[in-house]
Amino acid sequence: MPMVSETPIRDNTGLAIAQDKPWLAPLAGYSDLAFRLLSREFGAQVVCSEMVSAKGLYYGSSGTELLLETTGDDDPMVLQLFGNDTAIMERAMAPLVERGYRWFDLNMGCSVRKVVKTGCGAAMLCDIPNAVDVARTMVRLAGEGRVGFKFRLGWDADEDVYLDLAKRLQDVGAGWLSLHPRYARQGFSGEARWSALRTLVDAVDIPVIASGDLFHAEDAVRCVRETGVAAVMFARGALNNPAIFEEFTTLMQGGTVLRPDPEKTMRILRRHVALARAHCPDKTALFKMRSLVPRYVKLFPGAKHMRNQLTECTTWEKLDELLEQFFARWQAEGASFEPERICCPPSDGE
Ligand SMILES: Cc1cc2nc3c(=O)[nH]c(=O)nc-3n(C[C@H](O)[C@H](O)[C@H](O)COP(=O)(O)O)c2cc1C
Repeated sequence: MPMVSETPIRDNTGLAIAQDKPWLAPLAGYSDLAFRLLSREFGAQVVCSEMVSAKGLYYGSSGTELLLETTGDDDPMVLQLFGNDTAIMERAMAPLVERGYRWFDLNMGCSVRKVVKTGCGAAMLCDIPNAVDVARTMVRLAGEGRVGFKFRLGWDADEDVYLDLAKRLQDVGAGWLSLHPRYARQGFSGEARWSALRTLVDAVDIPVIASGDLFHAEDAVRCVRETGVAAVMFARGALNNPAIFEEFTTLMQGGTVLRPDPEKTMRILRRHVALARAHCPDKTALFKMRSLVPRYVKLFPGAKHMRNQLTECTTWEKLDELLEQFFARWQAEGASFEPERICCPPSDGE
């Protein structure tokens, strides 16, 4: 049995948040419609969009509309926005609510220079009153419980703001809180401090979603057990292996997972290519696939050769050919390959 928080959780999100229902994290450049649909097919229960600029929406920038693309199968989808200006956020978001988007998230965790130099993303952790004003506006527009906030511990070590911020966000009607427990200045270095997730779970009574160093399904099982979070969201773990969602559910139910699974990897790749071709403009989709294929196949022999060949791949037909060759070689030479058996025995006291 996973750990249960001592404080009863107040879930008024309409997302049926639960420990065994994993989320796909927002991933700029990756969590597009095709990847969200793929993740759902492999067991993601809630999916987040790439971050969308409130300013971009307000000024009608080209490309922004593409980030908003969704379909009936892409539900429930959380649309993540970034922006630090209350007035612009209001004008950007109101039409989205009218168009039927139901769940929103505010990015207060992105530490990329391009974003923080405009005062957005994790830079919002340096001005809590403004962050709360933007949050209040978003909740007023979308409704109580319909907006989540994703943030880090603070800007720099010893500048923890997450607890104070979390309580204020709860007070203005946040539906859920997602914490990536690193400082903005850390980027992705060091280790995510999961103990802060536990502290946050104890401090608020709305759902806390864990992010950070959930590279494999078993990491997430451990995170749930150690922290009592309401749910986990997979980011880099999903980019390496979209089957992570079903693996996580299997492990949470006490089952065993065999990994890596070459047949499944091939199935995932073919399906991702089909979804990308159906939902994204050709060139962008092909470039994205070129960057994802090496992640999917990195545990298999021949992955390096594949990566080199991909740099010259400019058509879908060529990509198909490379994939076929890769797996044909695998079938011919991979007989001695033993996948790892992974299970998560119940922890002490369960
Ligand atoms: C390629 C990439 C793009 C990301 N884009 C976003 C984003 O648009 N919005 C956001 O809140 N976080 C974004 N993140 C952060 C992730 O959602 C997540 O919090 C972080 O990767 C920590 O989780 P992990 O260690 O399990 O990968 C991104 C991370 C990566 C690696």
